[in-house]
Amino acid sequence: MFLLKRWQEKIIIAFNFQMCASRLTMRRLRKEALEQVENVKPKRKRQRTRGREEEPSSAVSPSVYHTFCEPADVRHLQTHLLRWYDLEKRELPWRTVALTEPDVNIRTYAVWVSEIMLQQTQVATVIDYYTKWMKRWPGVSDLAAATLEEVNQMWAGLGYYSRGKRLHEGAQKVMSELDGRMPDTVAELLRQLPGVGRYTAAAIGSIALGQVTGAVDGNVIRVLCRVRAIGADCTSPAVTEALWALANTLVDPKRPGDFNQAMMELGARVCTPKGPLCEQCPIRSQCHSYRKVQAKREQNSKRLLGEKDAKPPALQDIEDCSASGICPLCPLEPWDEELGVQNFPRKPAKKPPRVERTLTCVLTRHGEGGQEEFLLKQRPNKGLLAGLWEFPSLLLEKEEKSEKKQKAALCAHLDKHLGAPLIDSSLQYVGEVPHIFSHIHQTYVVHTLHLGDAEAPLRTGDVRWISRSALQEAAVSTGVKKIVKLCDSAKLQKELNSPDAKRQKNDEKKRPVRSTRKGKTKVTSGSNKQLTSFFRTTKQEPC
Ligand code: ADE
Repeated sequence: MFLLKRWQEKIIIAFNFQMCASRLTMRRLRKEALEQVENVKPKRKRQRTRGREEEPSSAVSPSVYHTFCEPADVRHLQTHLLRWYDLEKRELPWRTVALTEPDVNIRTYAVWVSEIMLQQTQVATVIDYYTKWMKRWPGVSDLAAATLEEVNQMWAGLGYYSRGKRLHEGAQKVMSELDGRMPDTVAELLRQLPGVGRYTAAAIGSIALGQVTGAVDGNVIRVLCRVRAIGADCTSPAVTEALWALANTLVDPKRPGDFNQAMMELGARVCTPKGPLCEQCPIRSQCHSYRKVQAKREQNSKRLLGEKDAKPPALQDIEDCSASGICPLCPLEPWDEELGVQNFPRKPAKKPPRVERTLTCVLTRHGEGGQEEFLLKQRPNKGLLAGLWEFPSLLLEKEEKSEKKQKAALCAHLDKHLGAPLIDSSLQYVGEVPHIFSHIHQTYVVHTLHLGDAEAPLRTGDVRWISRSALQEAAVSTGVKKIVKLCDSAKLQKELNSPDAKRQKNDEKKRPVRSTRKGKTKVTSGSNKQLTSFFRTTKQEPC
Protein backbone atom coordinates (compact mmCIF):
# COMPACT_ATOMS: atom_id res chain seq x y z
CA MET A 1 0.00 0.00 0.00
CA PHE A 2 2.81 2.36 1.03
CA LEU A 3 4.81 1.51 -2.11
CA LEU A 4 1.76 2.11 -4.29
CA LYS A 5 1.31 5.57 -2.76
CA ARG A 6 5.01 6.45 -3.37
CA TRP A 7 4.65 5.40 -7.02
CA GLN A 8 1.53 7.51 -7.36
CA GLU A 9 3.38 10.53 -5.98
CA LYS A 10 6.30 9.90 -8.37
CA ILE A 11 3.95 9.73 -11.35
CA ILE A 12 2.23 12.98 -10.34
CA ILE A 13 5.59 14.78 -9.88
CA ALA A 14 6.81 13.50 -13.26
CA PHE A 15 3.57 14.57 -14.91
CA ASN A 16 3.73 18.05 -13.38
CA PHE A 17 7.37 18.40 -14.40
CA GLN A 18 6.46 17.42 -17.97
CA MET A 19 3.60 19.95 -18.01
CA CYS A 20 5.86 22.70 -16.68
CA ALA A 21 8.61 21.89 -19.14
CA SER A 22 6.23 21.87 -22.08
CA ARG A 23 4.67 25.15 -20.96
CA LEU A 24 8.14 26.68 -20.70
CA THR A 25 9.07 25.31 -24.11
CA MET A 26 5.87 26.75 -25.53
CA ARG A 27 6.60 30.13 -24.03
CA ARG A 28 10.14 30.03 -25.40
CA LEU A 29 8.98 29.02 -28.91
CA ARG A 30 6.32 31.66 -28.81
CA LYS A 31 8.83 34.25 -27.68
CA GLU A 32 11.07 33.27 -30.59
CA ALA A 33 8.16 33.52 -33.00
CA LEU A 34 7.28 36.95 -31.65
CA GLU A 35 10.90 38.10 -31.86
CA GLN A 36 10.99 36.99 -35.47
CA VAL A 37 7.97 39.16 -36.15
CA GLU A 38 9.37 42.09 -34.20
CA ASN A 39 12.60 41.87 -36.15
CA VAL A 40 10.87 42.46 -39.47
CA LYS A 41 9.70 45.81 -38.13
CA PRO A 42 12.12 48.70 -38.32
CA LYS A 43 13.29 49.47 -34.75
CA ARG A 44 12.34 53.14 -35.15
CA LYS A 45 8.67 52.14 -35.35
CA ARG A 46 8.65 50.14 -32.14
CA GLN A 47 8.53 53.26 -30.07
CA ARG A 48 5.09 54.76 -30.36
CA THR A 49 5.10 58.37 -31.39
CA ARG A 50 2.42 60.48 -29.79
CA GLY A 51 -0.19 61.96 -32.05
CA ARG A 52 0.90 60.10 -35.18
CA GLU A 53 -0.39 56.71 -36.04
CA GLU A 54 2.00 53.88 -36.81
CA GLU A 55 2.97 53.28 -40.37
CA PRO A 56 2.72 49.88 -42.05
CA SER A 57 5.46 47.29 -41.71
CA SER A 58 5.92 43.98 -43.47
CA ALA A 59 3.38 41.22 -42.83
CA VAL A 60 3.75 37.66 -41.51
CA SER A 61 1.50 34.72 -42.25
CA PRO A 62 -0.42 33.57 -39.20
CA SER A 63 -2.00 30.16 -38.67
CA VAL A 64 -5.09 29.43 -40.81
CA TYR A 65 -7.23 29.48 -37.67
CA HIS A 66 -6.73 33.25 -37.44
CA THR A 67 -7.35 34.01 -41.11
CA PHE A 68 -10.03 33.63 -43.78
CA CYS A 69 -8.87 31.05 -46.31
CA GLU A 70 -12.18 30.24 -47.98
CA PRO A 71 -13.44 32.84 -50.49
CA ALA A 72 -16.98 31.65 -49.69
CA ASP A 73 -16.51 32.64 -46.04
CA VAL A 74 -15.29 36.08 -47.10
CA ARG A 75 -18.32 36.59 -49.37
CA HIS A 76 -20.64 35.38 -46.65
CA LEU A 77 -19.20 37.85 -44.16
CA GLN A 78 -19.31 40.75 -46.63
CA THR A 79 -22.91 40.05 -47.62
CA HIS A 80 -24.23 39.68 -44.10
CA LEU A 81 -22.33 42.65 -42.73
CA LEU A 82 -23.34 45.03 -45.53
CA ARG A 83 -26.97 43.89 -45.44
CA TRP A 84 -27.03 44.68 -41.73
CA TYR A 85 -25.28 48.03 -42.30
CA ASP A 86 -27.77 49.07 -44.98
CA LEU A 87 -30.64 48.43 -42.55
CA GLU A 88 -29.11 49.62 -39.30
CA LYS A 89 -26.54 52.32 -40.05
CA ARG A 90 -26.81 55.71 -38.38
CA GLU A 91 -27.27 58.67 -40.68
CA LEU A 92 -24.16 60.70 -39.93
CA PRO A 93 -23.34 64.02 -41.65
CA TRP A 94 -19.99 62.86 -43.02
CA ARG A 95 -21.58 59.71 -44.39
CA THR A 96 -24.11 61.80 -46.26
CA VAL A 97 -21.34 64.01 -47.72
CA ALA A 98 -19.34 60.94 -48.73
CA LEU A 99 -22.32 59.50 -50.59
CA THR A 100 -23.75 62.67 -52.14
CA GLU A 101 -20.95 65.21 -52.72
CA PRO A 102 -19.90 65.05 -56.39
CA ASP A 103 -16.73 67.16 -55.95
CA VAL A 104 -13.96 64.76 -54.95
CA ASN A 105 -11.89 67.53 -53.35
CA ILE A 106 -14.71 68.59 -51.04
CA ARG A 107 -15.58 64.96 -50.33
CA THR A 108 -12.02 64.11 -49.36
CA TYR A 109 -11.71 67.23 -47.22
CA ALA A 110 -15.06 66.48 -45.50
CA VAL A 111 -14.12 62.88 -44.68
CA TRP A 112 -10.64 63.98 -43.55
CA VAL A 113 -12.21 66.43 -41.06
CA SER A 114 -14.60 63.76 -39.78
CA GLU A 115 -11.89 61.15 -39.36
CA ILE A 116 -9.63 63.53 -37.44
CA MET A 117 -12.51 64.54 -35.16
CA LEU A 118 -13.45 60.89 -34.62
CA GLN A 119 -9.94 59.97 -33.46
CA GLN A 120 -10.39 59.36 -29.72
CA THR A 121 -13.85 61.01 -29.66
CA GLN A 122 -17.31 59.46 -29.67
CA VAL A 123 -19.58 59.84 -32.70
CA ALA A 124 -22.32 61.54 -30.62
CA THR A 125 -19.90 64.26 -29.47
CA VAL A 126 -18.45 64.82 -32.93
CA ILE A 127 -21.74 65.42 -34.80
CA ASP A 128 -22.32 69.01 -33.56
CA TYR A 129 -18.68 70.05 -33.87
CA TYR A 130 -18.54 68.61 -37.37
CA THR A 131 -21.70 70.37 -38.52
CA LYS A 132 -20.52 73.75 -37.21
CA TRP A 133 -17.05 73.26 -38.68
CA MET A 134 -18.33 72.41 -42.15
CA LYS A 135 -20.69 75.36 -42.09
CA ARG A 136 -17.85 77.72 -41.27
CA TRP A 137 -15.13 76.10 -43.41
CA PRO A 138 -16.89 74.11 -46.15
CA GLY A 139 -13.72 73.62 -48.19
CA VAL A 140 -10.01 73.19 -47.65
CA SER A 141 -9.29 76.75 -48.81
CA ASP A 142 -11.68 78.16 -46.19
CA LEU A 143 -9.90 76.28 -43.42
CA ALA A 144 -6.49 77.35 -44.69
CA ALA A 145 -7.57 81.00 -44.52
CA ALA A 146 -8.66 80.73 -40.87
CA THR A 147 -6.37 81.59 -37.96
CA LEU A 148 -5.16 78.97 -35.49
CA GLU A 149 -6.97 80.93 -32.77
CA GLU A 150 -10.26 80.47 -34.64
CA VAL A 151 -9.55 76.77 -35.11
CA ASN A 152 -8.77 76.33 -31.41
CA GLN A 153 -11.93 78.21 -30.55
CA MET A 154 -13.98 75.88 -32.74
CA TRP A 155 -12.24 72.84 -31.28
CA ALA A 156 -12.73 73.93 -27.65
CA GLY A 157 -14.24 71.08 -25.64
CA LEU A 158 -13.42 68.35 -28.15
CA GLY A 159 -10.10 67.47 -26.48
CA TYR A 160 -6.74 66.39 -27.94
CA TYR A 161 -6.24 69.88 -29.30
CA SER A 162 -3.25 69.10 -31.50
CA ARG A 163 -5.71 67.46 -33.92
CA GLY A 164 -7.27 70.81 -34.84
CA LYS A 165 -3.85 72.35 -35.24
CA ARG A 166 -2.76 69.55 -37.59
CA LEU A 167 -5.91 69.89 -39.70
CA HIS A 168 -5.16 73.58 -40.04
CA GLU A 169 -1.52 72.93 -40.94
CA GLY A 170 -2.64 70.28 -43.45
CA ALA A 171 -5.12 72.65 -45.11
CA GLN A 172 -2.43 75.32 -45.44
CA LYS A 173 -0.07 72.76 -46.94
CA VAL A 174 -2.70 71.63 -49.48
CA MET A 175 -3.20 75.26 -50.50
CA SER A 176 0.44 76.27 -50.63
CA GLU A 177 2.09 73.08 -51.91
CA LEU A 178 -0.59 71.01 -53.65
CA ASP A 179 -2.36 73.71 -55.59
CA GLY A 180 -5.47 73.38 -53.43
CA ARG A 181 -5.97 69.72 -54.41
CA MET A 182 -6.43 67.15 -51.67
CA PRO A 183 -4.23 64.02 -52.05
CA ASP A 184 -6.19 61.37 -53.95
CA THR A 185 -4.64 58.05 -52.93
CA VAL A 186 -4.08 56.35 -49.60
CA ALA A 187 -0.30 56.58 -50.06
CA GLU A 188 -0.44 60.32 -50.79
CA LEU A 189 -2.82 61.05 -47.93
CA LEU A 190 -0.35 59.29 -45.63
CA ARG A 191 2.62 61.11 -47.13
CA GLN A 192 1.24 64.62 -47.34
CA LEU A 193 -1.10 65.27 -44.46
CA PRO A 194 0.16 65.86 -40.91
CA GLY A 195 -1.71 63.82 -38.30
CA VAL A 196 -2.83 61.28 -40.91
CA GLY A 197 -1.51 57.81 -40.19
CA ARG A 198 -2.17 54.37 -41.56
CA TYR A 199 -5.74 54.06 -40.31
CA THR A 200 -6.87 57.59 -41.17
CA ALA A 201 -5.40 57.42 -44.68
CA ALA A 202 -7.15 54.09 -45.27
CA ALA A 203 -10.46 55.39 -43.92
CA ILE A 204 -10.39 58.56 -46.05
CA GLY A 205 -9.15 56.61 -49.07
CA SER A 206 -11.90 54.01 -48.87
CA ILE A 207 -14.79 56.28 -47.79
CA ALA A 208 -14.12 59.34 -49.94
CA LEU A 209 -12.14 57.88 -52.83
CA GLY A 210 -13.42 54.29 -53.06
CA GLN A 211 -9.93 52.86 -52.68
CA VAL A 212 -9.93 49.16 -51.87
CA THR A 213 -8.21 48.90 -48.53
CA GLY A 214 -9.14 47.67 -45.09
CA ALA A 215 -9.10 50.18 -42.21
CA VAL A 216 -8.28 49.05 -38.70
CA ASP A 217 -9.32 51.31 -35.84
CA GLY A 218 -10.11 50.41 -32.21
CA ASN A 219 -13.59 49.09 -33.01
CA VAL A 220 -12.32 47.00 -35.92
CA ILE A 221 -9.51 45.57 -33.77
CA ARG A 222 -12.14 44.29 -31.33
CA VAL A 223 -14.36 42.78 -34.05
CA LEU A 224 -11.49 41.04 -35.84
CA CYS A 225 -9.84 39.77 -32.65
CA ARG A 226 -13.12 38.18 -31.64
CA VAL A 227 -14.01 36.86 -35.08
CA ARG A 228 -10.66 35.12 -35.47
CA ALA A 229 -9.89 34.51 -31.76
CA ILE A 230 -6.76 36.65 -31.70
CA GLY A 231 -5.84 36.90 -28.05
CA ALA A 232 -2.20 38.01 -28.02
CA ASP A 233 -1.46 41.62 -27.07
CA CYS A 234 -3.39 43.57 -29.72
CA THR A 235 -0.78 46.34 -29.76
CA SER A 236 2.03 43.92 -30.68
CA PRO A 237 3.46 44.16 -34.22
CA ALA A 238 2.45 40.55 -34.96
CA VAL A 239 -1.19 41.19 -34.11
CA THR A 240 -1.24 44.60 -35.82
CA GLU A 241 0.02 43.10 -39.07
CA ALA A 242 -2.35 40.14 -38.85
CA LEU A 243 -5.32 42.49 -38.33
CA TRP A 244 -4.42 44.66 -41.31
CA ALA A 245 -3.96 41.55 -43.44
CA LEU A 246 -7.37 40.30 -42.30
CA ALA A 247 -9.04 43.66 -42.98
CA ASN A 248 -7.52 43.74 -46.46
CA THR A 249 -8.74 40.21 -47.14
CA LEU A 250 -12.25 40.97 -45.99
CA VAL A 251 -12.90 44.41 -47.49
CA ASP A 252 -15.55 44.36 -50.18
CA PRO A 253 -13.95 45.71 -53.40
CA LYS A 254 -17.33 46.95 -54.62
CA ARG A 255 -18.09 48.99 -51.48
CA PRO A 256 -14.85 49.48 -49.55
CA GLY A 257 -15.95 52.64 -47.72
CA ASP A 258 -19.26 51.14 -46.63
CA PHE A 259 -17.58 47.90 -45.64
CA ASN A 260 -15.07 49.67 -43.40
CA GLN A 261 -17.76 51.84 -41.84
CA ALA A 262 -19.91 48.75 -41.31
CA MET A 263 -17.06 47.10 -39.39
CA MET A 264 -16.68 50.26 -37.26
CA GLU A 265 -20.44 50.44 -36.74
CA LEU A 266 -20.57 46.80 -35.69
CA GLY A 267 -17.79 47.39 -33.17
CA ALA A 268 -19.47 50.51 -31.81
CA ARG A 269 -23.00 49.11 -31.49
CA VAL A 270 -22.98 45.31 -31.37
CA CYS A 271 -19.50 43.94 -30.74
CA THR A 272 -19.01 46.37 -27.86
CA PRO A 273 -16.19 46.20 -25.28
CA LYS A 274 -18.67 45.29 -22.52
CA GLY A 275 -22.04 43.59 -22.90
CA PRO A 276 -21.67 42.62 -26.58
CA LEU A 277 -24.96 41.79 -28.32
CA CYS A 278 -23.85 38.57 -29.99
CA GLU A 279 -27.39 37.42 -30.76
CA GLN A 280 -27.84 40.50 -32.97
CA CYS A 281 -24.52 40.10 -34.74
CA PRO A 282 -24.82 39.56 -38.48
CA ILE A 283 -21.47 37.76 -38.68
CA ARG A 284 -21.70 35.52 -35.61
CA SER A 285 -21.62 32.37 -37.73
CA GLN A 286 -18.07 33.35 -38.75
CA CYS A 287 -16.99 34.22 -35.23
CA HIS A 288 -14.58 31.81 -33.51
CA SER A 289 -15.19 33.43 -30.10
CA TYR A 290 -18.94 33.11 -30.41
CA ARG A 291 -18.59 29.48 -31.49
CA LYS A 292 -16.30 28.82 -28.56
CA VAL A 293 -18.82 30.29 -26.12
CA GLN A 294 -21.58 28.14 -27.62
CA ALA A 295 -19.41 25.01 -27.51
CA LYS A 296 -18.47 25.60 -23.87
CA ARG A 297 -22.09 26.16 -22.99
CA GLU A 298 -23.08 22.92 -24.68
CA GLN A 299 -20.24 21.07 -22.99
CA ASN A 300 -21.29 22.38 -19.59
CA SER A 301 -24.92 21.44 -20.00
CA LYS A 302 -23.92 17.95 -21.17
CA ARG A 303 -21.70 17.63 -18.13
CA LEU A 304 -24.55 18.75 -15.91
CA LEU A 305 -26.76 16.07 -17.43
CA GLY A 306 -23.99 13.55 -16.78
CA GLU A 307 -23.44 12.71 -20.44
CA LYS A 308 -20.32 10.64 -21.04
CA ASP A 309 -18.96 12.40 -24.12
CA ALA A 310 -18.61 15.76 -22.37
CA LYS A 311 -14.95 16.66 -22.74
CA PRO A 312 -13.01 17.46 -19.57
CA PRO A 313 -12.16 21.19 -19.67
CA ALA A 314 -8.38 20.65 -19.61
CA LEU A 315 -8.28 18.98 -23.02
CA GLN A 316 -7.72 21.07 -26.11
CA ASP A 317 -10.84 22.19 -27.96
CA ILE A 318 -11.40 21.82 -31.67
CA GLU A 319 -12.26 25.53 -31.50
CA ASP A 320 -8.62 26.37 -30.76
CA CYS A 321 -5.66 27.18 -32.96
CA SER A 322 -3.64 24.05 -33.75
CA ALA A 323 -0.42 25.97 -33.08
CA SER A 324 -1.68 27.30 -29.75
CA GLY A 325 1.28 27.67 -27.41
CA ILE A 326 3.72 28.82 -30.06
CA CYS A 327 1.31 30.89 -32.12
CA PRO A 328 2.10 34.63 -31.86
CA LEU A 329 -1.61 35.46 -32.19
CA CYS A 330 -2.96 33.17 -29.48
CA PRO A 331 -3.43 34.33 -25.90
CA LEU A 332 -0.97 33.21 -23.26
CA GLU A 333 -3.67 33.12 -20.63
CA PRO A 334 -6.33 30.39 -20.66
CA TRP A 335 -9.86 31.09 -21.84
CA ASP A 336 -11.95 32.64 -19.06
CA GLU A 337 -15.44 31.24 -19.33
CA GLU A 338 -17.01 34.11 -17.44
CA LEU A 339 -15.69 36.62 -19.97
CA GLY A 340 -16.99 34.79 -23.04
CA VAL A 341 -16.20 36.70 -26.25
CA GLN A 342 -14.78 39.45 -24.07
CA ASN A 343 -11.67 37.27 -23.71
CA PHE A 344 -10.65 39.14 -26.85
CA PRO A 345 -8.97 41.48 -27.53
CA ARG A 346 -6.19 41.62 -24.97
CA LYS A 347 -4.38 44.86 -24.27
CA PRO A 348 -1.21 45.36 -22.28
CA ALA A 349 -1.68 46.85 -18.84
CA LYS A 350 -1.95 50.66 -19.02
CA LYS A 351 0.65 52.85 -17.38
CA PRO A 352 -0.98 54.53 -14.39
CA PRO A 353 -1.82 58.18 -15.07
CA ARG A 354 0.29 60.96 -13.57
CA VAL A 355 -1.45 62.60 -10.63
CA GLU A 356 -1.15 66.39 -10.49
CA ARG A 357 -2.59 69.23 -8.42
CA THR A 358 -2.65 72.73 -9.82
CA LEU A 359 -3.38 75.98 -7.98
CA THR A 360 -5.70 78.14 -10.06
CA CYS A 361 -7.04 81.64 -9.61
CA VAL A 362 -10.18 83.00 -11.20
CA LEU A 363 -9.35 86.68 -11.10
CA THR A 364 -12.25 88.96 -12.02
CA ARG A 365 -12.83 92.68 -12.33
CA HIS A 366 -15.48 95.10 -13.50
CA GLY A 367 -14.60 95.80 -17.08
CA GLU A 368 -15.83 98.58 -19.28
CA GLY A 369 -19.56 99.11 -18.88
CA GLY A 370 -19.49 97.29 -15.55
CA GLN A 371 -19.32 93.88 -17.26
CA GLU A 372 -17.50 91.18 -15.32
CA GLU A 373 -14.18 90.23 -16.90
CA PHE A 374 -11.85 87.28 -16.29
CA LEU A 375 -8.10 87.19 -16.49
CA LEU A 376 -6.98 84.44 -18.88
CA LYS A 377 -3.52 83.29 -19.80
CA GLN A 378 -2.54 81.55 -23.03
CA ARG A 379 -0.72 78.21 -22.80
CA PRO A 380 2.48 77.68 -24.77
CA ASN A 381 2.15 76.70 -28.45
CA LYS A 382 3.48 73.20 -27.85
CA GLY A 383 2.46 70.40 -25.49
CA LEU A 384 -0.73 69.75 -23.56
CA LEU A 385 -3.65 72.04 -24.54
CA ALA A 386 -1.28 73.99 -26.80
CA GLY A 387 -2.36 77.58 -27.44
CA LEU A 388 -5.53 77.37 -25.35
CA TRP A 389 -6.54 79.96 -22.76
CA GLU A 390 -6.83 79.15 -19.05
CA PHE A 391 -6.95 80.82 -15.65
CA PRO A 392 -3.49 81.64 -14.31
CA SER A 393 -2.31 78.40 -12.75
CA LEU A 394 0.62 76.98 -10.86
CA LEU A 395 1.52 73.30 -10.66
CA LEU A 396 1.78 72.25 -7.01
CA GLU A 397 5.17 70.64 -6.63
CA LYS A 398 4.94 69.74 -2.97
CA GLU A 399 1.70 68.33 -1.68
CA GLU A 400 2.46 69.21 1.94
CA LYS A 401 2.43 72.99 1.38
CA SER A 402 0.08 74.71 3.86
CA GLU A 403 -2.90 76.68 2.56
CA LYS A 404 -1.14 79.90 3.53
CA LYS A 405 1.97 78.94 1.56
CA GLN A 406 -0.12 77.84 -1.41
CA LYS A 407 -1.86 81.21 -1.49
CA ALA A 408 1.47 83.00 -1.24
CA ALA A 409 2.85 80.97 -4.15
CA LEU A 410 -0.25 81.62 -6.26
CA CYS A 411 -0.07 85.30 -5.42
CA ALA A 412 3.57 85.48 -6.46
CA HIS A 413 2.59 83.80 -9.72
CA LEU A 414 -0.22 86.30 -10.37
CA ASP A 415 2.10 89.19 -9.56
CA LYS A 416 4.16 88.29 -12.62
CA HIS A 417 1.24 89.26 -14.84
CA LEU A 418 -0.29 92.16 -12.93
CA GLY A 419 1.03 95.65 -12.56
CA ALA A 420 0.46 95.77 -8.78
CA PRO A 421 1.22 93.06 -6.21
CA LEU A 422 -1.72 91.26 -4.59
CA ILE A 423 -2.27 90.43 -0.92
CA ASP A 424 -2.32 86.67 -0.30
CA SER A 425 -5.20 86.80 2.15
CA SER A 426 -7.54 88.34 -0.39
CA LEU A 427 -7.57 85.06 -2.33
CA GLN A 428 -10.65 82.96 -1.52
CA TYR A 429 -10.43 79.18 -1.66
CA VAL A 430 -13.49 77.87 -3.55
CA GLY A 431 -12.99 74.15 -4.01
CA GLU A 432 -11.45 71.51 -6.23
CA VAL A 433 -12.18 70.45 -9.78
CA PRO A 434 -10.98 67.03 -10.92
CA HIS A 435 -10.23 66.79 -14.62
CA ILE A 436 -9.03 63.65 -16.35
CA PHE A 437 -6.77 63.73 -19.38
CA SER A 438 -5.74 60.45 -21.01
CA HIS A 439 -2.44 60.37 -19.12
CA ILE A 440 -2.92 62.88 -16.29
CA HIS A 441 -5.38 62.97 -13.41
CA GLN A 442 -5.48 66.66 -12.76
CA THR A 443 -7.06 68.44 -9.80
CA TYR A 444 -7.48 72.19 -10.01
CA VAL A 445 -7.40 73.81 -6.58
CA VAL A 446 -9.57 76.81 -7.30
CA HIS A 447 -9.33 80.27 -5.75
CA THR A 448 -11.10 83.48 -6.65
CA LEU A 449 -10.36 87.12 -6.28
CA HIS A 450 -12.63 89.92 -7.42
CA LEU A 451 -10.81 93.16 -8.07
CA GLY A 452 -13.93 95.31 -8.48
CA ASP A 453 -13.10 98.51 -10.35
CA ALA A 454 -9.50 98.44 -9.28
CA GLU A 455 -6.91 99.32 -11.85
CA ALA A 456 -5.30 96.10 -12.96
CA PRO A 457 -2.85 96.76 -15.74
CA LEU A 458 -1.21 93.76 -17.34
CA ARG A 459 2.50 93.17 -17.53
CA THR A 460 2.87 90.26 -19.94
CA GLY A 461 1.52 89.71 -23.46
CA ASP A 462 0.15 86.22 -22.86
CA VAL A 463 -2.61 87.37 -20.48
CA ARG A 464 -5.87 89.06 -21.36
CA TRP A 465 -9.06 90.33 -19.69
CA ILE A 466 -12.10 88.84 -21.36
CA SER A 467 -15.84 89.17 -20.76
CA ARG A 468 -18.05 86.28 -19.68
CA SER A 469 -19.71 86.03 -23.08
CA ALA A 470 -16.32 85.98 -24.82
CA LEU A 471 -15.19 83.30 -22.37
CA GLN A 472 -18.08 81.03 -23.46
CA GLU A 473 -16.79 81.28 -27.04
CA ALA A 474 -13.06 81.35 -26.35
CA ALA A 475 -10.52 78.62 -27.08
CA VAL A 476 -10.63 77.18 -23.57
CA SER A 477 -10.53 73.58 -22.39
CA THR A 478 -13.36 71.75 -20.64
CA GLY A 479 -11.37 72.09 -17.40
CA VAL A 480 -11.77 75.90 -17.55
CA LYS A 481 -15.52 75.56 -18.11
CA LYS A 482 -15.78 73.26 -15.10
CA ILE A 483 -13.92 75.83 -12.98
CA VAL A 484 -16.31 78.60 -14.04
CA LYS A 485 -19.25 76.36 -13.12
CA LEU A 486 -17.79 75.70 -9.66
CA CYS A 487 -17.24 79.42 -9.05
CA ASP A 488 -20.75 80.28 -10.24
CA SER A 489 -22.39 77.76 -7.93
CA ALA A 490 -20.19 78.83 -4.99
CA LYS A 491 -21.17 82.44 -5.63
CA LEU A 492 -24.86 81.58 -5.81
CA GLN A 493 -24.63 79.58 -2.58
CA LYS A 494 -22.93 82.50 -0.87
CA GLU A 495 -25.63 84.85 -2.08
CA LEU A 496 -28.41 82.58 -0.86
CA ASN A 497 -26.76 82.39 2.56
CA SER A 498 -26.19 86.12 2.85
CA PRO A 499 -28.03 87.96 5.73
CA ASP A 500 -30.02 89.97 3.16
CA ALA A 501 -31.28 86.86 1.39
CA LYS A 502 -32.16 85.19 4.72
CA ARG A 503 -34.04 88.25 5.92
CA GLN A 504 -35.98 88.41 2.68
CA LYS A 505 -36.84 84.71 2.98
CA ASN A 506 -38.13 85.21 6.53
CA ASP A 507 -40.19 88.24 5.49
CA GLU A 508 -41.75 86.20 2.71
CA LYS A 509 -42.66 83.43 5.14
CA LYS A 510 -44.41 85.90 7.47
CA ARG A 511 -46.31 87.64 4.67
CA PRO A 512 -49.79 86.17 3.98
CA VAL A 513 -50.10 84.53 0.58
CA ARG A 514 -52.42 86.61 -1.59
CA SER A 515 -51.67 85.48 -5.06
CA THR A 516 -50.91 82.13 -6.66
CA ARG A 517 -48.28 83.80 -8.86
CA LYS A 518 -44.79 82.81 -7.90
CA GLY A 519 -42.80 85.74 -6.58
CA LYS A 520 -39.24 85.92 -7.76
CA THR A 521 -36.66 86.30 -5.06
CA LYS A 522 -34.39 89.18 -5.77
CA VAL A 523 -31.14 88.47 -4.07
CA THR A 524 -28.89 91.30 -3.16
CA SER A 525 -25.39 90.13 -3.24
CA GLY A 526 -23.00 90.42 -0.37
CA SER A 527 -20.18 89.22 -2.58
CA ASN A 528 -20.72 92.08 -5.00
CA LYS A 529 -19.26 94.38 -2.44
CA GLN A 530 -15.95 95.36 -3.82
CA LEU A 531 -12.82 94.33 -2.06
CA THR A 532 -10.71 97.37 -1.69
CA SER A 533 -7.61 95.96 -0.05
CA PHE A 534 -6.36 93.17 -2.29
CA PHE A 535 -3.33 95.09 -3.57
CA ARG A 536 -0.35 95.47 -1.32
CA THR A 537 1.03 98.95 -0.79
CA THR A 538 4.42 99.41 -2.34
CA LYS A 539 6.05 99.25 1.11
CA GLN A 540 5.09 95.60 1.53
CA GLU A 541 7.43 92.78 0.59
CA PRO A 542 6.39 90.94 -2.56
CA CYS A 543 5.07 87.45 -1.73
N1 ADE B 1 -15.12 56.17 -36.47
C1 ADE B 1 -14.16 56.50 -37.32
N2 ADE B 1 -14.65 56.72 -38.55
C2 ADE B 1 -15.97 56.52 -38.46
C3 ADE B 1 -17.03 56.60 -39.38
N3 ADE B 1 -16.81 56.96 -40.63
N4 ADE B 1 -18.25 56.32 -38.94
C4 ADE B 1 -18.45 55.98 -37.66
N5 ADE B 1 -17.51 55.89 -36.76
C5 ADE B 1 -16.27 56.15 -37.14
